[in-house]
Amino acid sequence: MSNRKYKRVTTHSLLEMKQDGDKISMLTCYDYSMAKIIDSSGIDIILVGDSASNVMAGHETTLPITLDQMIYHASSVVRGVKRALVVVDLPFGSYQSDPNEALRSAIRIMKESGAHAVKMEGGSEIKDSIIKILNAGIPVMGHLGLTPQSIYKFGTYTVRAKENKEAKRLIEDAKLLDELGCFGVVLEKIPAKVSKKVTNAINIPVIGIGAGSHVNGQVLVTHDLVGLSTEFNPRFLRRYVDLNEIMSKAIKSYIKDVKNLNFPNENEQY
Ligand code: KIV
Repeated sequence: MSNRKYKRVTTHSLLEMKQDGDKISMLTCYDYSMAKIIDSSGIDIILVGDSASNVMAGHETTLPITLDQMIYHASSVVRGVKRALVVVDLPFGSYQSDPNEALRSAIRIMKESGAHAVKMEGGSEIKDSIIKILNAGIPVMGHLGLTPQSIYKFGTYTVRAKENKEAKRLIEDAKLLDELGCFGVVLEKIPAKVSKKVTNAINIPVIGIGAGSHVNGQVLVTHDLVGLSTEFNPRFLRRYVDLNEIMSKAIKSYIKDVKNLNFPNENEQY
């Protein structure tokens, strides 16, 4: 059930949801039409993820998507949203080199798209950039665990923080994000027992993807949830509908009707 208590979801409402034990729902979105459906269904957070690079543009990784392209997707989404908090990924290369560039990128997203917050991958290594952005009044969401912008460092998309050393570092990074003033953190593909420790150790909401059930909320890529993407089948994914099959059937029927002169009929013309 969506939390209709909030007419508009803010970073403050999310903190309240964690304190009240209400789970937070979050989905990705990259365009206006889908944003209207997702928002009116009652989602709490819409993430304009850099997964647009994979899902919308067909790239193998999230690395190629540019700041201009993220702003295009984000502004389309914002026009379709009335209630959800809209968070936008800072894309690879737009914040890693120095805090001033990070701030300039975040300001462009906020000014040009009308979104409400940005998300950044990483912990202590991007601390100065996070501080700079937060000091400008821009809410920041962290992202730890499997961080796809670092895929070439990891080598694979396998579960992160299985070893004690990496788990300890992740917990420290999550505490740092909380202390710095981030409003939430996404934990991607880590053991459930590690995400449980993080959730109990910090005050801000923890949103998981492949991070088990002991977190404050869940996020999925919408195209995976509705079956529009077919190649991606990780264990953590639940498909709620097979839109690929439904759309294929509809399109095949249309083609058949066109070929057989069944479309348009008398009522479908002027
Ligand atoms: O870009 C994205 O879709 C994400 C989610 C997987 C959390 O960062």
